[in-house]
Amino acid sequence: MKFSVTSAVVRALVLTMLILAISHVGQSQDSNWNKRRSESSNGRKDYGNGKPPSHSPSPIPSSPPLSPPVVPPSTPTPTTPSGLQVGFYKGQCPNRLVDIEALLTTKVQEEFRKDSSILPALLRMQFHDCFVHGCDASILINGLSTEKTAGPNLSVRGYEVIDALKVIAEAQCPGVVSCADIIAIATKEVLRLGGGPNYSVQTGRRDGQVSRAQDVNLPSPFLTVTETISAFTDKNFTPEEMVILLGCHTVGVSSCAFFQDRLYQGTSQFDPIMDPNLRQQLMPTCPKGTTSNNSTFLDQNPQSSNIVDNSFFVQILNQRGILPIDQALARDPKTVSFVQKFAQSASLFNSKLASAMVKMQALEVLTGTQGEIRKTCSIFN
Ligand code: HEM
Repeated sequence: MKFSVTSAVVRALVLTMLILAISHVGQSQDSNWNKRRSESSNGRKDYGNGKPPSHSPSPIPSSPPLSPPVVPPSTPTPTTPSGLQVGFYKGQCPNRLVDIEALLTTKVQEEFRKDSSILPALLRMQFHDCFVHGCDASILINGLSTEKTAGPNLSVRGYEVIDALKVIAEAQCPGVVSCADIIAIATKEVLRLGGGPNYSVQTGRRDGQVSRAQDVNLPSPFLTVTETISAFTDKNFTPEEMVILLGCHTVGVSSCAFFQDRLYQGTSQFDPIMDPNLRQQLMPTCPKGTTSNNSTFLDQNPQSSNIVDNSFFVQILNQRGILPIDQALARDPKTVSFVQKFAQSASLFNSKLASAMVKMQALEVLTGTQGEIRKTCSIFN
C-alpha cells in the first residue's frame, strides 16, 4: 500500500515535469516563430514608391536595432568548399569584441535610408564584379583601363558607399576586411532591406590584384537565351539559376539605349508582341531615332519597381519586359517554365534567390593567402 502511494506520487511528479517541459518547448517555438515573422515583415514593409528613378529617399523598412552591435567573439561556421565561411571576421579586430560585420551592416542601413537606389546599384555591381575574375573587388580599381572603364561598367554606381564602408572597416580593423567582402556584406543587406531573402552572407574573400578593361566579357542584353545560358554555364550556373539571377531585374532601371529599338517598326529589334500599352507609354521616354539618357524601370509593375519580389516574372509573361534578354526568357522554351514557376510563387523565388546569391558571391573567390586586403578599395596596395 505504502509502496503504491509512493509510486503514484512519483508518477504524478514525473507527469507534471513532462507537461511543464512540453509546454516550455511550445512556448519557445512560438516566440521563435513570432520573431521570424516580425523579421520577415520588417524586410518587406513600404519599400519604395514606384516613382521614376530620381532615387529620392524612400521610407526604410524598420530595420534591426541600430545600437552598437558589439557581441562577444564566437566561433565562425565551418569553411565552405569555396573557402568562405559565415562570420569570418568574428574576433578578428584588435578589439576582439567589435563585430565589424554588424557595424558595416548598420552603415548600409543608414545609406539605404538616405537613397534606396543603392539596392539596384550594389546588386549590379556585385554581378559585374563576380562575373569578371570572380568576386575580388577588381571592379573598384581606378585607372585608365581598369574594369571600371569598360563599356558595361560605365553605368555601374555605388562606389562611394563601398568607400565609406571601407573607412569604417579600416578604423576598427586596419588591414583585415577585404573590399570584396564589403561588397558582399552590403549587397546582402540591401537585398534584405528591399524585401529579398535574409540569408547568411559568407565572408573570407580577399581582394584581387588584376583589373583590366579588356577582361570584361559580360553578357550583352541583346544575346539570345541560348547564348546567355552558355555564358552562365561557363560560370557553372544552371539555366534555372540564370533565370533566378536575372530576376534581380525586379529592381532598378535601364536606359533607352538597351530597349528603344524594340518600340519602333522598321528597326532590326522591333518587337511586335510587346504589350501595346507599354509601347505607348515608353515612346515619349525614348523617342524614335534619338539618343537620350532617359530610363525606365526594369520591373514595369509600378507598385513594385523598387521591391525585390516575383512581379518581374509576371511582367515578362505579360510581354512587359524591358531588356531584350528579359523578355526573351518568357518566350524561349528553355526558360519559360522557370519564369512561370517563379511568377506563381514569390516564396519559391525568394528562397532560390538566396541560394543563387550565395553561389554567385562565392564565384572564383580568392581566400587564405591569395590576393591582398586593400587599404583603399579603389587602389591596389
Ligand atoms: C545576361 C545577364 C544580364 C544582362 C545582359 C544584364 C543587363 C543589364 C542592363 C543592360 C541593364 C541596364 C543598364 C543601364 O541602363 O545602364 C541592367 C541593369 C541592372 N542589372 Fe542586369 N543584366 C544581367 C544580369 C544581371 C544580374 C545577374 C544581376 C544581379 C544579380 C543584375 C542586376 C541588375 C540591376 C539591379 C540593374 C539596375 C541597375 C540600376 O538601377 O542602377 N543583372 N542589367
